Amino acid sequence: MEKRLLQKTTAWERCNHWILALSFIVLFLTGLGFLYQSLNWINTVFGGNHLAKEIHRWGGLVFAISLILTMGNYFAEAVSFTEEDKKWLSSLGGYFSRTEEPPPQGRLNAGQKLFYLVVVLIFGLAISLSGFMLWFFNTSRGLILFAHFLHNLSYIVFAFAVPLHIYLSTAANPGTLRVMTRGTVSAAWAKKHHGKWARDMGVD
Ligand code: HEM
Repeated sequence: MEKRLLQKTTAWERCNHWILALSFIVLFLTGLGFLYQSLNWINTVFGGNHLAKEIHRWGGLVFAISLILTMGNYFAEAVSFTEEDKKWLSSLGGYFSRTEEPPPQGRLNAGQKLFYLVVVLIFGLAISLSGFMLWFFNTSRGLILFAHFLHNLSYIVFAFAVPLHIYLSTAANPGTLRVMTRGTVSAAWAKKHHGKWARDMGVD
């Protein structure tokens, strides 16, 4: 059983994940350069302020399109709230206790569903829409102020959530990164992290 590999993501899911992640990193870094005078040097790496602004705008378009496309991969699953999700949430995923263990989970656990729906989708749409407002509809002062507020608020949410997502997908849970590189996981990993999904895939 241990040697068996299970397919967790399709090539398309992985490709879109890396478009989203790479565009996010470019936007995050150029955004940091615009936000703080002391970090403006970051944008010299992107060819100076003028080019960095163009890269930020077009990178934002790539991010927004990729974001919409994620809906085909995760939306239906993320909005279907199950009994396992309730238990995962009430035990806080077991992260803060030595004794409490959440029950076997489906392909995505409640934490992943919330990360997708709240952070990626809601704040992703907010940061994209406010970015487009600043790019194309920057005529009234009220609108500009509102768009800046929404853009910066979403930026702060991402600045906390994405490093946590990266940590949980790599160092904290060895064997997880390959979900987004090769698309396959070991049967042992599947049993440990997504037991219900592993059972559905025929692992006993
Ligand atoms: C270089 C940084 C990143 C790494 C190493 C990484 C890694 C991963 C891995 C390994 C998974 C699969 C987790 C599993 O199935 O158990 C995943 C899923 C996902 N990632 Fe990333 N990711 C990165 C950046 C991002 C960014 C920037 C976003 C969004 C802005 C993002 C959005 C998602 C979403 C929506 C999922 C599916 C839901 C979930 O599993 O949480 N990722 N990522």
